[in-house]
Amino acid sequence: MENQEEETINLGRSLLVPSVQQLVRDEPSITKIPHRYVHQLDDHDSSFVSSDDPLTINPSVPVIDLHNLIENTSTYSSELNKLHTASEEWGFFQVINHGISESLLEDFRREILDFFGLSMEEKKHLWQEENSYEGFGQLFVVSEEQKLDWSDMFAITTLPRHLRKSQLFQKLPPLLRDKLEAYSAEVKKLAVAILGQMGKALGIKTEEMSELFEDGFQAMRMNYYPPCPQPELALGFSPHSDADALTILYQLNQTDGLQIRKDGKWVTIKPLPNALVVNIGDIMEIVSNGVYKSIEHRAMVNEHNERLSVATFYCSTMGTEVGPAQSLVAQHKVENFRRVPLEEYFKECFARKLDECIVEKVFSIISASLIS
Ligand code: OGA
Ligand code: NI
Repeated sequence: MENQEEETINLGRSLLVPSVQQLVRDEPSITKIPHRYVHQLDDHDSSFVSSDDPLTINPSVPVIDLHNLIENTSTYSSELNKLHTASEEWGFFQVINHGISESLLEDFRREILDFFGLSMEEKKHLWQEENSYEGFGQLFVVSEEQKLDWSDMFAITTLPRHLRKSQLFQKLPPLLRDKLEAYSAEVKKLAVAILGQMGKALGIKTEEMSELFEDGFQAMRMNYYPPCPQPELALGFSPHSDADALTILYQLNQTDGLQIRKDGKWVTIKPLPNALVVNIGDIMEIVSNGVYKSIEHRAMVNEHNERLSVATFYCSTMGTEVGPAQSLVAQHKVENFRRVPLEEYFKECFARKLDECIVEKVFSIISASLIS
């Protein structure tokens, strides 16, 4: 406990960049975005499937009713099948009846809105420090030339408790800290429950799954996407796959923005009231020996509305190795990924520009370095 500071986890760092929220505050009638935020959107990017476009078939991301999985109702096996197919074919789904109370979600939402509403002066105390990913700022910025995303974020390690950066926790507004604490515990329970069901669907031994995920690492990333005067030129969050095992995304408003790449096209995920968006991260793709997919996704911005979200990342315990589940390798008779220390995997990810952080690419680098 005394050595809390030394024990905090450092997954990497990012160059410091200006606050986009402040940029919009300083110049509310801004009509052109600065050059550094203009992305080159290539051809297929403009051919995304919009759910408002009547000419396209509108695939929509599956919805899983957690109640059916946890309470062992008569619909258990069909819901488990749905979860399995969603994880194999989509890598994303929305979850309803997830057990996190509406009042906690609402309280947490309000605190986060206030948090991003703080003045720059107040936020400075909570800004990222050199060599840390935690605090307000950006991640994955590795060069001065790199295009920037139209967003601000706040990142924080939440579990296990001994890896928390206590100075940062102490500086949080007390009400936010309370709600974050409660949400962190609830969302961990939810992640462990969903991962457990995935293990069942995949045929991984229960003990193997619980050993991996019972006492995992959890971090949160709050995202703030200000309105953008030229949304067609900007990205709120560049395409990436998440490096963790399971991400649970709480969209704080009903504004569209999240898109996932499905069969080469971008599909918009329409926020459902009281639902949470769940996605498979790289670590779960690896644990599942490649059966489940960590899908590329991005966030778009729009001209009129701000958008906020909180992503909670959950993965196995730091200090352990990550690789395909042994009980699956025994069934598949092939190991599709190598085993690597978890921290090594993350450090590779964080050192890379965001859109290169796709599991195959990072793994080919790690594999190559292991082979040679
Ligand atoms: C993330 C993420 C998407 C969103 O935080 O990893 O993909 O809609 N967020 O905010
Ligand atoms: Ni993501």
